[in-house]
Amino acid sequence: MKGIVLAGGNGTRLHPLTIVGSKQLAPVYDKPMIYYPLSMLMLTGIRDILVVTRPSELPAFRALLGDGRQLGLSIDYVAQDKPRGIADAFRVGADHIYGEECALILGDNLFHGANLPSLLRRSALKVDGCVLFGQEVAAPQRFGVAEIDPRGRLVSIEEKPRRPRSNLAIPGLYFFDAQVVDITENLTPSARGELEITDVLRAYLEKGTAELVWLGRGVTWLDTGTHETLLEAATFVRDVQRRQGTRLGCIEEIAMYMGYIGPDDCHALGAQMGNSPYGQYVMERARSFSRGMPPKAFSEGL
Ligand code: DAU
Repeated sequence: MKGIVLAGGNGTRLHPLTIVGSKQLAPVYDKPMIYYPLSMLMLTGIRDILVVTRPSELPAFRALLGDGRQLGLSIDYVAQDKPRGIADAFRVGADHIYGEECALILGDNLFHGANLPSLLRRSALKVDGCVLFGQEVAAPQRFGVAEIDPRGRLVSIEEKPRRPRSNLAIPGLYFFDAQVVDITENLTPSARGELEITDVLRAYLEKGTAELVWLGRGVTWLDTGTHETLLEAATFVRDVQRRQGTRLGCIEEIAMYMGYIGPDDCHALGAQMGNSPYGQYVMERARSFSRGMPPKAFSEGL
């Protein structure tokens, strides 16, 4: 399965922070925002990844992540000249994903939680149509919303409905079969001229091949589209990290735990940032991994 991180858009809700520079490179506490969605794809087992960005931001992303080889990944980049909608990722990324299953994650979504990596791996194993996730939220009108029947079957999908039919929001992480490029080609842009992700999901729903996977209460899902939610996400990351002494979204550590790179490679990546607590953490994790710590069975909650 291939992966796409959608990291374009104008970030207007974060102006002036994002007049120069991309939202998805803005810090969420101690690392660039894109580390968090990227780490989700890595934990799902996806190593071939396309980053979609604004043309002006492409060099900055490339400078940060390179071709991904240092993490045992293959990272490619494509520019989206205008924000033409989330599903536009399948149009600009068509050459990269055509004929393959693909995961799409929004570059401003952050996930953390119990057994999430194994849930994602299981869900990515059997994509017969599309897989979307659902999580209960306090303000569903801000999101895509899924309606289910009493047997838990998906009945409707709506984008930011004024009167939501449920409190089940659809986070920005989706798995699709190889038909997604063709399905997107046949979509009509919405009134605001965008290719809406909910229209793609609805096309699968109408074919009876959209599967909804419930993210339980043990999973925290945050999006970081406003100053308020950006600060909330930073505070969340800081609190978890301070309490546990481990780091969320640490792509070097994840690459090592997933077996994409060895502990020596990981240590070397940490040493390049050795002046920072982050770099020291990466080196320390590489050293403990070499000593067999934490045991493999404990490495779920990265
Ligand atoms: O966060 C989850 C929600 O994300 C879903 O529940 C909604 O169904 C989905 O439409 C989306 O809603 P948002 O209002 O958060 O979408 P937004 O326009 O903010 O775009 C999300 C990210 O995708 C953002 O980081 C910018 C990027 N993006 C967006 C568009 C429209 C692009 O890179 N290109 C685009 O053309």
